[in-house]
Amino acid sequence: MTTPDRPAGRFISIEGPDGSGKTLQAERLAAALEERGFDVLLTREPGGTRLGDQLYELLMANGGEPIDPVADALLFNAARAQHVAQVIAPALAAGRIVVSARFADSTLAYQGYGEGVDLEVLRRIIAIATRGVRPDRTILLDLPAEVGLRRKTPETITRFESFFDLAYHLRVRAGFLEMAAADSDRWVVVDADRSADEVLGDVIAAVVGVLPAHDHARDAVARSEPPAAASRMQ
Ligand code: TMP
Repeated sequence: MTTPDRPAGRFISIEGPDGSGKTLQAERLAAALEERGFDVLLTREPGGTRLGDQLYELLMANGGEPIDPVADALLFNAARAQHVAQVIAPALAAGRIVVSARFADSTLAYQGYGEGVDLEVLRRIIAIATRGVRPDRTILLDLPAEVGLRRKTPETITRFESFFDLAYHLRVRAGFLEMAAADSDRWVVVDADRSADEVLGDVIAAVVGVLPAHDHARDAVARSEPPAAASRMQ
């Protein structure tokens, strides 16, 4: 709800295992919101800033020495600190709707549930990086780890698919589901093992409740139908 001390901006994050279609759904959600008159900022992690893109290259390198999981968490969160300071916080302060493919919950899922770093340690790191900026709504695009990994092409394979085994990806998925179950006010779980249009319908429905109130655009989004042409997510 918009109040005098709360800017009208809203923060929506899209999370999920590798190959769950986050990039596509974030793009289509942003486009759907823009069509209905919202001022939307579409962004992603890791990345979203120049420094973030440089760190992304380092983090995704498909060879070299194994990265220590705490070093991993600190690097992802260095990128996040820059992303929040330079991109997300100013957009929220300006009243924009921020849609981010991945945010802090990815650190908890991958470095925490996946790699075994203590979740409390990660929460402290995340609190420093985000300065308390938190999504109003987080959509979990859920699908079996095997299905997500099968969707990866040689061009989109990163260190996370080539160095980590299926058990790791199963822990990541279970971690996402556990976080979603523990905070159902913020999280909405969407079955991502369907056509992109079916998934988009649920993604749009999941954000309607957090859009700024008393806005004509909000009503238009609530009435919207996903485009008729069905296509499978990549
Ligand atoms: P992407 O596939 O969405 O581009 O993300 C790249 C990888 O980075 C993905 O396997 C998940 C991983 N990741 C983390 O391990 N921790 C994080 O905090 C973030 C944002 C991503």
